[in-house]
Amino acid sequence: MGQLQIADAPINLIDLIENKKATGGDALPEAGNGRKVYIETYGCQMNVADSELMGGILLSHGYTIARTVEEADVILVNTCAVREKAEDRVFGRVATLNGYKNRKPGVVIGVTGCMAEHLRDKITDQAPYVDMVIGPDAYRRLPQMLADKDQQEAKDKKDEHDPIIDVRLDRRETYEGITPVREEGVTGWITIQRGCDKFCTFCIVPYTRGRERGVAPREILRQARALAEAGYKEVTLLGQTVNSYKYEGVDFADLLTAVAQIDGIERIRFTSPYPVDFTPKLIETMAREDKICKYIHFPVQSASNEVLKVMRRGYTIEEFRQLVVDMRAAMPDLAISTDIIVGFPGESDEDFQATMDLMREIRFDFAYMFKYSEREGTFAHKRIPDDVPEAVKGARLKEMIAMQEGICAEIMKPHIGKLVHVLIQGNSRKSDDDWVGRTDTFKTAIFPKVEGTEPGQIVPVRVLKATSHTLVGEIEWNCSKP
Ligand code: SAH
Ligand code: F3S
Repeated sequence: MGQLQIADAPINLIDLIENKKATGGDALPEAGNGRKVYIETYGCQMNVADSELMGGILLSHGYTIARTVEEADVILVNTCAVREKAEDRVFGRVATLNGYKNRKPGVVIGVTGCMAEHLRDKITDQAPYVDMVIGPDAYRRLPQMLADKDQQEAKDKKDEHDPIIDVRLDRRETYEGITPVREEGVTGWITIQRGCDKFCTFCIVPYTRGRERGVAPREILRQARALAEAGYKEVTLLGQTVNSYKYEGVDFADLLTAVAQIDGIERIRFTSPYPVDFTPKLIETMAREDKICKYIHFPVQSASNEVLKVMRRGYTIEEFRQLVVDMRAAMPDLAISTDIIVGFPGESDEDFQATMDLMREIRFDFAYMFKYSEREGTFAHKRIPDDVPEAVKGARLKEMIAMQEGICAEIMKPHIGKLVHVLIQGNSRKSDDDWVGRTDTFKTAIFPKVEGTEPGQIVPVRVLKATSHTLVGEIEWNCSKP
């Protein structure tokens, strides 16, 4: 799962959950009257977690989850605004969804999440068939908004209403007390922090998700225990700068220690930490607690101090490098992935080469690499001209991806012949005869099923082959248990 990262394909909530009752919200307990909601998610894990939250709120108000968009009475598109490409895809998608609405009058289309916050006017102008625009802090009011929509429809059949818009940000909203609906599965996530206070000059997130706030530890532990009781083995703690987490004297390292005490949870991950807030205490905690996976997504963005300064990332490349040295000293097998932006304003060839050099030096296990995409409303959009030509951005990205692919392959190859411990997640995408799972260091592993194995088990796998992103092997029981 790496960073809070845009998924390749939208995710339908039904792929994630069963239709089951959840708690949450207070008014209008049966307002849904069995109507079916289809929730499609774009963007990062936090959006997936938010869709689970919306599912929880709606199920507790008498709605059910639709398996397909065709059977839906309410369609919610949970969106991402981090890069322009993500937004363009959503506009295309809602236009297609309007076709369903034309065929089935009464269907309600809602746009939720970061784009709702960022582009409410553009959505209402360009996609007038969108009925509701709902920001990330307004999900508790979803049932009320749907009820208001019903009333509007009942009063006036013309279907030419202004959309219902609620994009108020609320610096106190942490959705405490709401239980998200989740798939029955092996790995689950818990949002422990909402918003972001860092204001990197390129980034829209602080504007779309509002101020940073931690979720109360009691709520996080309640959810973690619920996951363990439901049979989950792995939990991922989510936040935009997850390690800046603070709640009444509890810091992120304390929280990790507390989650590690929960019986049944065997692996703990988190994403994404912010380099400046990576403390020696956190490194010690990670090294000490066996349950905390030895994998960190550690976004560097650039290795040029000049660029980092204009990005307002708050660290120098020397500081970043030292953190990596400290982490590797404490955890020799640590896997590290990163995010890079190429073509940030003012990025010279030397700046770009500095980033390439850093990647060769650190040898990230994986990197999410992006072309700079100017986002309206950010500091960079207002003050820093997007001056690297598109062709240069494209060429740099291509060169970087090719180099990183080579590094990935080099890192994977030495796994051949070794034994890795894999948490079985389910059937592999290509064959029902194979399991797929992850190693502690987040490497994907595929291997034939053997009798007596099932999702949720951690099994020893002897690696026989390796591509740049996948280990292929077989279960080997006659070795020491993990
Ligand atoms: N704190 C979050 C960042 C969310 S955005 C996290 O680390 O998960 C995820 C990544 O998208 C960022 O790390 C950055 O590399 C990239 N990104 C953000 N804004 C961008 C922009 N305007 N153009 C290109 N990439 C961007
Ligand atoms: Fe964005 Fe920087 Fe926060 S990348 S999410 S403003 S840490």
